[in-house]
Amino acid sequence: MSKVICQPNEMLPLLQTIRQPLYLLRQSTTELLGISDNNQHDESWQAFALLPALYPEWLGNQSFLNTHGVRFPYVAGAMAHGITSVEMVIAMAKTDMLCFFGAAGMPLKQIEAGLQQIQTELGNEKTNWGSNLIYMPNDPEIETAVVDLYLKYNVHRVSASAYMRVNANIVRYACKGLYRDENGQIQRNNYVFPKLSQPRLATQFMTPPPEKILQELVSQNQLTAEEAELASQLPLAEDITVESDSGGHTDNRPLGPLFSAVLQLREKLSEQYNYSRPIRIGAAGGLGTPAAVAGAFAMGADYVVTGSVNQSAVESGLSEDAKKMLAQAEVTDMAITPAADMFELGAK
Ligand SMILES: Cc1cc2nc3c(=O)[nH]c(=O)nc-3n(C[C@H](O)[C@H](O)[C@H](O)COP(=O)(O)O)c2cc1C
Repeated sequence: MSKVICQPNEMLPLLQTIRQPLYLLRQSTTELLGISDNNQHDESWQAFALLPALYPEWLGNQSFLNTHGVRFPYVAGAMAHGITSVEMVIAMAKTDMLCFFGAAGMPLKQIEAGLQQIQTELGNEKTNWGSNLIYMPNDPEIETAVVDLYLKYNVHRVSASAYMRVNANIVRYACKGLYRDENGQIQRNNYVFPKLSQPRLATQFMTPPPEKILQELVSQNQLTAEEAELASQLPLAEDITVESDSGGHTDNRPLGPLFSAVLQLREKLSEQYNYSRPIRIGAAGGLGTPAAVAGAFAMGADYVVTGSVNQSAVESGLSEDAKKMLAQAEVTDMAITPAADMFELGAK
């Protein structure tokens, strides 16, 4: 006979063992409620409900785990100037999660050194990590040079952020290395994770790249004719991160309506194009606590992305002073400002 736990302070540790099922019990004589991790107890207790085991690796979409070689559908987003540091990328990859190096704003030499350090530490086999490619309408040649670096160093996953439209740089990265396997299935070498807050942009990433861009890249010998032909049968990206109000670039939109709109678009476009591979929709923005992450999964997120909360991690590149200030800050100490690189574009 096992003991039935009735005291709230004794229940908590048992409730936190989420990987084992729990029985919810009621005592017929006293109407007392209790919990137990098995159903072997005094017969005055009757089970009226079962809390099933819940494994974090069962949340989200299983195909996310298989495609990206991770155990959890949990992504640490890029934070500029190496706040999402080399150390953070390595620590996340080693625990079978996905993390994007915060390369935005860094000189090319520093990005290259970061990529080399990550690859030395993780080896060529472990590819469950990525780096940031930020849209640079005012410095397109730097954006091109960053793509060159990612192709040179075989960075297989890129978080594409602040894009306002699909351009040749992102198409070249995504389509380089497309091939058919022995079963005739199209396979990717490189995965783009666009982060966006507009359904219009989501459409551009969930459809094949524009034919004009593909043909230009072929004529410049940047893509082969076969890569371009395969690209025209696939969505440009298959992991679309919907970002609501957040610590990053944002259009100040709430997650619920935005996520739902992109989810509906995904259904429509997948049916229209009859894709052979699934498109996954992730959620980002305001996911700083277990309750918020649970809410995103309940809404239908295939994976989640966090940012602000990771600034306080020991591996984060944030200064110690800033970490101390964050530790003392309350929710009401936060306000929205335009991202530094958006002032020129008139962001408010
Ligand atoms: C300080 C800071 C810098 C960021 N820099 C970038 C960046 O360079 N590139 C990028 O794609 N996202 C950037 N982000 C956004 C995060 O990757 C992530 O999408 C976002 O923080 C998630 O929302 P949350 O902050 O509410 O968790 C940054 C976020 C923060 C807090």
